[in-house]
Amino acid sequence: MDKFIVNGPTRLEGTIEISGAKNAVLPLMAAALLARGESIIENTPRLRDVNTMMRLLELLGARVEHGEDGTMTIDTSDASGVEAPYELVRTMRASIYALGPLLAFHKRARVSMPGGCAWGPRPIDLHLMAMEKLGANIELEHGYINASCDRLKGAEVVFPISSVGATAQTIMAASLADGTTVIRNAAIEPEVTDLVEALINCGVGIGGAGTATLEIEGADSVAPLRHRVIPDRIEAGTFAAAAAVGAGDVTLAGCRADHLAAVVQVLEASGTTIETEGDRMRVRGSDRPTAVDVVTREYPGFPTDMQAQIMAVLCRANGTSTVKDTIYPDRFTHVPELRRFGADIRLDGNLAVIRGVEQLQGAPVMATDIRASSGLILAAMAAEGRTEILRVYHIDRGYQRIEERLRALGASIERVSD
Ligand code: EPU
Repeated sequence: MDKFIVNGPTRLEGTIEISGAKNAVLPLMAAALLARGESIIENTPRLRDVNTMMRLLELLGARVEHGEDGTMTIDTSDASGVEAPYELVRTMRASIYALGPLLAFHKRARVSMPGGCAWGPRPIDLHLMAMEKLGANIELEHGYINASCDRLKGAEVVFPISSVGATAQTIMAASLADGTTVIRNAAIEPEVTDLVEALINCGVGIGGAGTATLEIEGADSVAPLRHRVIPDRIEAGTFAAAAAVGAGDVTLAGCRADHLAAVVQVLEASGTTIETEGDRMRVRGSDRPTAVDVVTREYPGFPTDMQAQIMAVLCRANGTSTVKDTIYPDRFTHVPELRRFGADIRLDGNLAVIRGVEQLQGAPVMATDIRASSGLILAAMAAEGRTEILRVYHIDRGYQRIEERLRALGASIERVSD
């Protein structure tokens, strides 16, 4: 199993290109199953989760190629499979995205139920509720969702809470349904809007893009995708936080500033200087961050996927900060690891109270999920001395060659295979 050795403190300097968004490309890849023929998705990042979704599509009979330039082709001409097995779903929950497209296209699907994850139960009840609303018959048997229908039928789907996954799932299924589907309280995260725009270009009539009410006119067939994935706002935010944590001067190239407003606001409040020009953002950290209070919320609020990274920044802040996660109240597995660096963090339910310390110290720590691990890398770069980060396969799920890219900015970080 690989680990990272980080020597700190380091001050990052230079320019970094932002990759395509993981959480946009995963539903887009599943959406290719709605069409017959060759879908083309540009700006697809090379990530472990993308590889897992490729394996799933291949298992379903699609032919998938991922070119060096990030262009992915998915040929579904012979894709007749309908099963997403436990072996894949347990390594990546987003495999659940196969459910809607398979059901809509083949009228049946057998998809393993994802289990809990490191930081909470993460239910899929809203996905299943929406499929039932569209007319699917759902049975849970031996850990699998067995779903079947005649043609799905347009319906009104009202989500009690905003869910990125359940919204994307419903959009995909409704694209091939008979009639109109209205989704109320739809998630408005940019990754959902990216999917909507991709499907509109495939001939699906969708009104309300970017709003909480979506109206989807089901089509008899969906054309193959031709789409370029949006830049990854969480990756951009992570590198911005990496500049903030250690007085760096980093320019993010190819990012969408409009998707990063809440992150910029918090970083600026913590004393970071940010200048935006077109798709470039220059981020300059101060010698010591200022304490801030952060609350994660649905888009356009501060993303839960940036919670661990901002906490790493605030561990060094002058004063006491708070970080509250309203999306995932248990998403704090990084807290005991950050304490190993000498951070002073008290947890009270979904609220972390962080009393900034002047200097963190390198320590052996363990990565627990994608974002928690990137928070640990940030803390390690700010800390004095040597850090070993174990289980870095988590980070490879969501960040493309992170150690090479951080090294190019001046970090001392090596990947070591045991
Ligand atoms: N929820 C339910 N029932 C459901 C679905 C969700 O109660 O059927 C709840 C969740 O427990 C949570 C809230 O709804 O409290 C929002 O969860 P959501 O469904 O929006 O999350 P998701 O679609 O499972 C995506 C990202 C996550 C990100 C969240 C929140 C992908 C593949 N994953 O998950 O990203 O944290 O939205 O923004 O898009 C990551 O990239 O590291 C990651 C975990």
